[in-house]
Amino acid sequence: MAPAISCVFLVALFSTSCEAIASSDQMCIEKETNKTYNCENLGLGEIPGTLPNSTECLEFSFNFLPTIQNTTFSRLVNLTFLDLTRCQIYWIHEDTFQSQHQLDTLVLTANPLIFMAETSLNGPKSLKHLFFIQTGMSSLDFIPMHNLKNLESLHLGSNHISSIKLPKDFPTEKLKVLDFQNNAIHYLSKEDVGSLQQATNLSLNLKGNDITRIELGAFKSTIFQSLDFGGTLDLLVIFKGLQNSTVQSLWLGTFEDINDEDINFSVFDGLCEMSVESMYLQKHHFFNISSNTFHCFTSLQELDLTATHLKELPSGIVGLKSLKKLVLSANKFSNLCQINAANFPSLTHLYIKGNTKRLDLGTGCLENLENLHLLDLSHDDIETSDCCNLQLKNLSHLQSLNLSYNEPLGLKTEAFQECPQLELLDLAFTRLRVNTAQSPFQNLHLLKVLNLSHCLLDTSNQHILDGLPVLQHLNLQGNNFPNGNIQKTNPLQTLESLEILILSFCDLSSIDQQAFISLKIMNHVDLSHNRLTSSSIEALSHLKGIYLNLAANHIGIIPSGLLPILSQQRTINLRGNPLDCTCSNIYFLEWYKENMQKLEDTENTFCANPPLLRGVKLSDVTLSCSITAVGIFFLIVFLLLFTVVLIFAVKYFLRWKYQHI
Ligand SMILES: *[C@@H]1O[C@H](CO)[C@@H](O)[C@H](O)[C@H]1NC(C)=O
Ligand SMILES: *[C@@H]1O[C@H](CO)[C@@H](O)[C@H](O)[C@H]1NC(C)=O
Ligand SMILES: *[C@@H]1O[C@H](CO)[C@@H](O)[C@H](O)[C@H]1NC(C)=O
Ligand SMILES: *[C@@H]1O[C@H](CO)[C@@H](O)[C@H](O)[C@H]1NC(C)=O
Ligand SMILES: *[C@@H]1O[C@H](CO)[C@@H](O)[C@H](O)[C@H]1NC(C)=O
Ligand SMILES: *[C@@H]1O[C@H](CO)[C@@H](O)[C@H](O)[C@H]1NC(C)=O
Ligand SMILES: *[C@@H]1O[C@H](CO)[C@@H](O)[C@H](O)[C@H]1NC(C)=O
Ligand SMILES: *[C@@H]1O[C@H](CO)[C@@H](O)[C@H](O)[C@H]1NC(C)=O
Ligand SMILES: *[C@@H]1O[C@H](CO)[C@@H](O)[C@H](O)[C@H]1NC(C)=O
Ligand SMILES: *[C@@H]1O[C@H](CO)[C@@H](O)[C@H](O)[C@H]1NC(C)=O
Ligand SMILES: *[C@@H]1O[C@H](CO)[C@@H](O)[C@H](O)[C@H]1NC(C)=O
Repeated sequence: MAPAISCVFLVALFSTSCEAIASSDQMCIEKETNKTYNCENLGLGEIPGTLPNSTECLEFSFNFLPTIQNTTFSRLVNLTFLDLTRCQIYWIHEDTFQSQHQLDTLVLTANPLIFMAETSLNGPKSLKHLFFIQTGMSSLDFIPMHNLKNLESLHLGSNHISSIKLPKDFPTEKLKVLDFQNNAIHYLSKEDVGSLQQATNLSLNLKGNDITRIELGAFKSTIFQSLDFGGTLDLLVIFKGLQNSTVQSLWLGTFEDINDEDINFSVFDGLCEMSVESMYLQKHHFFNISSNTFHCFTSLQELDLTATHLKELPSGIVGLKSLKKLVLSANKFSNLCQINAANFPSLTHLYIKGNTKRLDLGTGCLENLENLHLLDLSHDDIETSDCCNLQLKNLSHLQSLNLSYNEPLGLKTEAFQECPQLELLDLAFTRLRVNTAQSPFQNLHLLKVLNLSHCLLDTSNQHILDGLPVLQHLNLQGNNFPNGNIQKTNPLQTLESLEILILSFCDLSSIDQQAFISLKIMNHVDLSHNRLTSSSIEALSHLKGIYLNLAANHIGIIPSGLLPILSQQRTINLRGNPLDCTCSNIYFLEWYKENMQKLEDTENTFCANPPLLRGVKLSDVTLSCSITAVGIFFLIVFLLLFTVVLIFAVKYFLRWKYQHI
């Protein structure tokens, strides 16, 4: 009888009362207290009363507001940003935005506008950005414009507009961006372009308009920040039309499906009669380049020849001597020497990424590029057993090298000796075979950023990261450590300048207490997506004020002794751990509630135990671990029973003793 009773008693004693307070607000999502709200796609027919009057940014797309008037937003006097995309608005009444004096950006994209009152935009005195994309507009006269003195960008894409001519008196003084992409503009006259004259440094987007004619001299002595004629088939029309103009960046790319004819290189002769700084020619067909093709490119600083079907660039090309930046990505080179780098000796930036063939780096193919600062060779299928000194010969000023997403590279000691100025090295997703006990990164005295994510690095080699005295940022995501453990002696020890360390997805199950002891100035440590338990937190005890990501590990209970280590950090993420919400973890649960401001992703941090609380937000759990009323009742019953049993026992004992006298 007695054991059964005490069992009931124990269960009652340790039963905890749990309370889950779930806030199930299906309404707008608050992104910044009292200021920024997202009410997208809630089927709303009005501004909900729950939005505070102080709302400044409101994302209200995919709702239902067929007509809007002065009362619709009148309460929200401090609105600066309003997105009304796809709200089926067709009628905008008088004075609709009269109270929104601060409104800076208004998005009316994808509304079938039929009418906009002359005074509808009178309120916002400082409206800067207006979006009328896909509104069915066929003429700029539709827009009430007399109050738009501060307009900086006007987006009119995907409409039926046939002329870029701005209405007389359209305020253009501050206009910087005028976007007409995908309209029905086929002809540009002197008068049309003349209406933009007031806007200096304008970016004009005419992409996806089939421009077939430009009046001679239309762009004469105009200055544009950028001009986008993307998708235009006949480049000759463009170059003739742009005679004697000045354009900072000229976009003449095409789209794969439109044009597969060879470009007639004589069109580029037009460049001799205008001034362009950057030119983009994506996806045109550049067969048979001759040394004379680029003779009018002499003033160009930047040339983008992405996906132009290039197999090689001949030697002796004239016109590219002062080119600074060249993009040759997504072409068909088989050897790096086929670009004939001597053609453009002033290059500082060279991008050859996503080459469609396996790229052989050759030997010293870039040795003329003594001023090269940045080289991007990512996604090139490069495979070599001994990188990179022969391949990168003479690149003594290189600061940034991207070799990510390539095939296996073999690295020996001091593999980057030819590039002693390197500050950034990206080898992510490229398998590294280090054939030496010494560090391949030896002597990179200026290297600040090293991305070795998913490199299958041999982390048992303790010296693999030696020789990087100023390294600040190291990404080791997806590399494994022996036995899933970072030991006391490990390759990170020499990196005394390290500030950012990424060790996510490394299959780690433990970290030695002393493992990071020489890393004294770290401020960002990502240990997410491993198998760590709370004991590894001790390795961080010497660090203060860091961002610490522990998401998706195996942390269940955090003992009170480790809480001070968490308390001294700046931000902590514990999402996706099997967190225990029973009384065994009460110290942590209390700490969690007191330190909510330090915790990241609390909306997605849930209990995993006990089963009753699985999936409940940690912040919503209230645990009471004192003895409950039921517990007290059973305790009293137990004590009474115990006393009765004791009395009987004493009585029995005395009787037994008496009988044996
Ligand atoms: C938000 O508004 C409420 C009510 O006006 C006010 O009590 C609270 O202090 C405000 N919060 C912030 C962060 O401004
Ligand atoms: C609007 O902003 C001003 C200045 O920040 C503030 O004084 C005023 O209280 C705000 N109005 C509302 C309704 O929150
Ligand atoms: C809205 O317009 C109506 C009619 O013009 C006017 O009577 C009313 O006062 C206006 N409401 C506000 C909030 O200004
Ligand atoms: C919000 O503004 C409306 C109209 O200006 C006013 O009637 C209401 O009292 C305001 N609400 C709060 C909470 O201040
Ligand atoms: C022109 O605009 C660009 C960006 O749009 C800006 O960087 C540049 O400084 C502007 N130039 C002048 C002369 O205003
Ligand atoms: C461009 O300028 C040159 C020299 O000033 C002049 O001869 C030519 O006619 C101009 N072209 C156009 C289209 O205005
Ligand atoms: C290229 O254009 C020039 C002048 O515009 C013309 O004379 C020549 O015949 C064209 N070449 C080809 C191959 O179409
Ligand atoms: C390339 O140029 C050569 C000679 O200049 C010519 O014979 C050949 O037909 C051209 N090929 C193409 C595809 O234009
Ligand atoms: C190598 O670079 C040096 C300057 O750094 C330059 O003088 C030399 O011409 C380059 N070598 C070659 C083969 O271009
Ligand atoms: C290197 O190239 C990859 C792929 O093109 C890109 O994702 C990455 O951002 C680049 N690295 C740097 C440092 O720009
Ligand atoms: C490697 O890390 C650097 C620095 O964080 C980053 O800029 C780059 O995009 C990363 N590379 C890839 C391929 O993600």
